[in-house]
Amino acid sequence: MTVPHRSGFETQSEEVTSERLPVEGSIPAWLAGRYVGNGPGQFEVGDRTLGHWFDSLAMVRGFDIDDGVSYTNRFVRSRDYAFARDRGRVRTQFPGTPPDRPVWTRLRQALTGEFPDNPVIGVARIGGELAAITESPVALTLDPDTLETTGRIDLTAGLDADLTLGHPHYDPWRETLVNLGVSYGRETTYTLFRRDKQTVEPTATVAFDDAPYVHSFALTERYAVLPAMPFGLNATELLLGVITRATFVDAFERFDRPGEFVVVDRETGEVAARNRVDPLFVYHHANAFADGDDLVVDLVGYRDQQAVTDLTLANLRSDSPSVPRGDLRRYRLPLDGGRATGETLREGHMEFPVIDYPGRLGRPYDRVYVAESDGDAALPTRLARVAVPDGDAVTWAEPGAFPGEPTFVRAPEATDADGVVLSVVFDAETDDSFLVVLDATTMTERARAPLPHRLPYGFHGQFYAATDPVRSMA
Ligand SMILES: [Fe+2]
Repeated sequence: MTVPHRSGFETQSEEVTSERLPVEGSIPAWLAGRYVGNGPGQFEVGDRTLGHWFDSLAMVRGFDIDDGVSYTNRFVRSRDYAFARDRGRVRTQFPGTPPDRPVWTRLRQALTGEFPDNPVIGVARIGGELAAITESPVALTLDPDTLETTGRIDLTAGLDADLTLGHPHYDPWRETLVNLGVSYGRETTYTLFRRDKQTVEPTATVAFDDAPYVHSFALTERYAVLPAMPFGLNATELLLGVITRATFVDAFERFDRPGEFVVVDRETGEVAARNRVDPLFVYHHANAFADGDDLVVDLVGYRDQQAVTDLTLANLRSDSPSVPRGDLRRYRLPLDGGRATGETLREGHMEFPVIDYPGRLGRPYDRVYVAESDGDAALPTRLARVAVPDGDAVTWAEPGAFPGEPTFVRAPEATDADGVVLSVVFDAETDDSFLVVLDATTMTERARAPLPHRLPYGFHGQFYAATDPVRSMA
């Protein structure tokens, strides 16, 4: 018997361009713009199944929403993608799959720091261009209409970094992109930087004796908060992997030290506080804001590094996958450097915390949207509007439906609506996917647009309004 979530982890090789979708229900007249997401398209290279969910070859998916909905999907033409298609082999060290290369090529890659360019995590506007991004030294630019790959951006130019993270912020106060670059070596350094159209300006550097994995960070007008938890890469094991074929996931381990949040003062470039905390693993932050002498940081937290190591395709495709549980957690960080305290606002399984990003980033806020489930499936089964801090939720769900990341789009002030939530839903009952538009207050369905095919379950997207082309979320 096939478990219903399994098709969410199966390849879709069909690409379509500007296909007009049928729309059931009514899309608000004010909702005009482009909703672009990223995620897996293909899970095999040659005759081999890739090891980890994050290894999958990137497929961008775009919806032009105006007086109707047009849909386009494209594989991102990275060098990893070309090597996989042309030679049926893995070009670089993927997170959970070693490269199909001779040992001397693997050694050269390890020594020169050649990282994958398959940009599967998300999309961002970089220097005015739409780009597919991941944890990599390069972003691949996309034609916004056709989603065809048009070029490459060197993300580490002007930085002492091997790669930059896949979750840049857009700083609404300074109107710049803000991200972290990471440099691996005898010590690991994370460099906070801002990127304008022409310039890259490092703000602060934080060094660690080990190599903590940081997937995203929290941002307020004054501070950036790095979750420097005791989970990350064992550099020796990774280097030996040239011989042993151990991957990043194999070398991902727990360090023998406490967790800490590192608070960086963005004005002075100094570390303002290092707050010890019981270890937790974090992919995504919901928000952060100042509250008296504390910083409040909300995030989805996991017990440990199994949040990474459990996401193998073999596990996720199995009848009873072991799925790490993320809870919505609130941490209070005293700016005098005292110990951080945490509480659970809502128990998971949940992921993809999304706020009214342009309106509430770095400020007190009252709700976060997440995709969540009761944990029996490897994928979320409902979308929730969660009140913070009390954790009550209003949800949307449908039998057999696995909704992806919820993206909040605020309505213009002249309308009485609050906004909508967009999500791409994989429907196991029809083996197709659809775009759903929910009322952001009631979480009731306003409209849906069925796709001509099934999309593998995706990662992160952005909404770019036609009239105000800014991101809607982190
Ligand atoms: Fe992410």
